[in-house]
Parts: sequence; structure tokens; C-alpha cells
Amino acid sequence: GWRTRYLYFFQDFWCQSAEIQSITKFQNHFQAKDTDIIIATIPKSGTTWLKALAFAIANRGRFAPSEKNHPLLTSNSHALVPFLEYTVYGGRFDHVPDLSNMVEPRLFGTHIPYHSLAKSIKDSNCKIIYICRNPLDTVVSTWIFINKIKPEYLPTLTLEEAFEMYCEGKIGYGPSWNHMLGYWNESTARPEKILFLKYEDLKKDTIFHAKKLGEFLGCPFTIEEENNGLIESIIKLCSFENMRELEVNKSGTFASNFENKYLFRKAQIGDWINYFSPSMVEKLSKILQEKLNGSGLSFEVLH
Ligand code: PPS
Repeated sequence: GWRTRYLYFFQDFWCQSAEIQSITKFQNHFQAKDTDIIIATIPKSGTTWLKALAFAIANRGRFAPSEKNHPLLTSNSHALVPFLEYTVYGGRFDHVPDLSNMVEPRLFGTHIPYHSLAKSIKDSNCKIIYICRNPLDTVVSTWIFINKIKPEYLPTLTLEEAFEMYCEGKIGYGPSWNHMLGYWNESTARPEKILFLKYEDLKKDTIFHAKKLGEFLGCPFTIEEENNGLIESIIKLCSFENMRELEVNKSGTFASNFENKYLFRKAQIGDWINYFSPSMVEKLSKILQEKLNGSGLSFEVLH
């Protein structure tokens, strides 16, 4: 079954064998620029959304959010903000991509834990935006997504298996608590380098966080922009409701031929209530309280 197969423990995190080669290539070759923006997440925590927001905010000088031909209307955000370990450094082992001609600021995504990022990312002045999500919702989102995209020859992943694996730390790029703490600790030490966000906060007050993103990225919104509704139009462009209905997201594919439509499911806070028994919630809460204890990082719903 899933619990004992498909994942390898590499550099203190779990990943699939095919990813090891591209992660190593990225570590050996990626040269960060000071203007780079890295969107870091554990899968199913708000990656698609944050990539869209960061792209729209950082590029609003080139592409007005109300433009009829804004790139986010015809491309999925994973195409505009490619994953370092899949799209950028995937493919043939001896092929190293030339990224020098990419328009700046270059935006990239990654699921790789902080400790395994290429050294130049840590040493340069590039910015990292991290987003995490209530683990209970992440488990549900991951479980449903895996069953949608898995090749037919793999068995169905049951919710119980997905839950137990999460509790054991055994999920892609996990243990999730190490992933979150790696970025959390670095963001408290270097707040100008790493902005640490939670999906729930972003959803509850998107305007506040859009402004925060602008400031963090060194392109704060002007008074005129605030007054003429620019922030609202960015938020609308990147909203779940808008993105889900786009033709590209109904029919297109991303990374290695995953269908875009599976990136858009419910986008709700607390959907886990429909899936977990009280004893499961108690079990995961205990694990997380123990793992996150003393860090200052916690999740409201787990209290
Ligand atoms: S991935 O594969 O790691 O990139 O997936 P990721 O985008 O991190 O997570 C998918 C969940 O995010 C929801 N989603 C969104 N929420 C708010 N706004 C926007 N624009 C948006 N796009 C995707 C998506 O529905 C998944 O959550 P669930 O709970 O499964 O619905």
C-alpha cells in the first residue's frame, strides 16, 4: 500500500524518486538573483493562489490587472511561476536550463524545505514568500488530489492511509511540521527575507495581505492605486471563483501533465469537519502541539 511505497527519505524529507534528480540539479546549478521571488509551500496549502497574487502584484506595472489580455486570464499560475523542482530543473538529467534571459523579477515556486534550498537563494537578497494551511484541511486536499491525478495502476489512497501517513510525517516534502518550522524559524530571524503566511489569514483578509505582499516585495501600493480599486481588481483576478472558471483552468495541464481543473476544488476553511472523526482530530492535534511546541507557530482550529 501507499504507506510503505513511493516515497524516499532524502536530505531529511520525503519525496518521490524522480524528484531527487531534479532537486539535486537545482541545488547544484540554480543562481538566484537579488530580484527573484520564490513562492515556497508544502503541497495543497495555497500554492496556486499565492503564485497568482505574487505574479499579479509584482508585474502590475507591465500588466494592469484589469487588462483583457492579462497573462493570468490565459495561463495557469503554475505556468507563469514555474516549480524549480519540476518544470525548471525537471527533464533530462544532463540538461541545465539557461534562466539568464528570463524577464525580471523572475518568479519561481518550490515545495523543497528551507534547509535543502540552493545556497544562492539563502545568500542572495531574493525574497521568499511561504504559505501554509491548517494541516487538517491540507490532508483532505492532498488525499482528494492524489486520487485524481494518480496513474491508474496505483491503488486508491484511502483517507485513513492519507491521515496516518501525514501523522507519521510521511507526505511529499514532509514531515510537514519540519517544513513549516524551517521557514517559520528563518522568517522570524530574517523577516525582510521571508514572509510567512497562512492560507486562513490570506482568505480572511486578502486586502491586508495583498498590501503586505506589495510592501514585502519592495513595490508597495501607492495611494492612487489604493483609491482606484487596483488592489480589489488584483484580488478578483486571483480569486478561486475567477480562476476556476477560466478556459485554461478547465481544460489545460500543468507540470507533468496534471490537469489544471484538479487544482480548484472547494477552497474552504474547515472542510475537514466533513471527513475526520473526533479521535483523528485529537490525534493530529496532539502531534502538532508537540512538534510545534515553543516555536510560536500554531493553528487556531487545533486548539
Ligand atoms: S498545489 O498542487 O500544491 O499547487 O496545490 P495548492 O494550490 O497548494 O492547493 C490547492 C488548494 O488551494 C485551493 N485553491 C485556492 N484557494 C483560494 N484561492 C484560489 N485562487 C485557489 N486556487 C486553488 C484549492 O481549491 C485547493 O484546496 P481544496 O481545499 O482542496 O479546495
